Amino acid sequence: MKFAAPSRSRPRNSPSSATLPPPPLAGEGWGGGKLPTATDTGLATTASEAPVLTIAGVGKRFASGLQALGGVDLTVRRGEFVSLLGPSGCGKSTLLRIVAGLSQPSTGNCALHLDTAPGQRVASGRVGFVFQDATLMPWSTVLNNVLLPFRIARHLGAAERERAAAALRSVSLAGFENAYPHQLSGGMRMRVSIARALVTEPDLLLLDEPFAALDEITRLALNDDLLRLWETRRPTVLFVTHSVFESVYLSTRIAVMAARPGRIVADLPVDLPHPRERAIRTAPDYVAACEQVSAALGAAMPQGATR
Ligand SMILES: Nc1ncnc2c1ncn2[C@@H]1O[C@H](COP(=O)(O)OP(=O)(O)O)[C@@H](O)[C@H]1O
Ligand SMILES: [Mg+2]
Repeated sequence: MKFAAPSRSRPRNSPSSATLPPPPLAGEGWGGGKLPTATDTGLATTASEAPVLTIAGVGKRFASGLQALGGVDLTVRRGEFVSLLGPSGCGKSTLLRIVAGLSQPSTGNCALHLDTAPGQRVASGRVGFVFQDATLMPWSTVLNNVLLPFRIARHLGAAERERAAAALRSVSLAGFENAYPHQLSGGMRMRVSIARALVTEPDLLLLDEPFAALDEITRLALNDDLLRLWETRRPTVLFVTHSVFESVYLSTRIAVMAARPGRIVADLPVDLPHPRERAIRTAPDYVAACEQVSAALGAAMPQGATR
């Protein structure tokens, strides 16, 4: 079963929405459970939703001559949670950087559909990016780290401070506003990083192996937090991982990548129901989905690479 995002009431074509982070939606918190879940609202399939991202024939050749990506095609629709799954070095980060506008494709086209007027720059707050490292400013408090997108946009007032506080509450960091990054655990630092990416209510959330450096217990807890977030707020997510189990647990769709050059070799829907609880990790359907994805990944690996 797949679900679509609920329609959102924010005016997307208002003059300010393309240049400033959009206004907060009342009562929203990071997986805070205040909004109805996808199952509560009986949502339709995501196939009918508008694309947020289209990647068409994207290739990337670095100055070194290395062909990192060759002919990647991918469409991500509003409200989907799509994982890019592939072995190390297959070009996942390169593709994510192109989507974020941090790097240009050598061939092909990558377009975000964020209701921005033709020719108008997409404001930074419309796309959230979470890296593998939390990338916090060590000299700033937790609250000031989360306020960074507003400072960059030169739009920081009482409402933005409240949004940052709400984002921190929703990642279970209420009370840590004045702490410094070195006083937090790795998992807590990553929560701050996710709160910073979410505070502008981005249309598209990009995550590049955000939990890869964390211990297994913390990783599982943050997987659950991210699921609750997606089930309650339905952001559009493009999530990079090299973990089959993580991708099946979290995603509505998995794009399996192969290397040299990086390309998508399988596009697999994950038809597990929501809300997904941890118990699903031992359910036969979950195990079967993991086997299917593993097989696609194995077929994408060069001969002998899995041994
Ligand atoms: N700036 C760069 N210049 C040259 N080669 C690069 C650059 N960035 C990445 N690469 C190479 O491109 C390939 C894909 O890298 P990357 O996208 O980081 O893979 P992944 O995220 O899947 O591990 C790798 O072989 C990597 O060494
Ligand atoms: Mg990478």
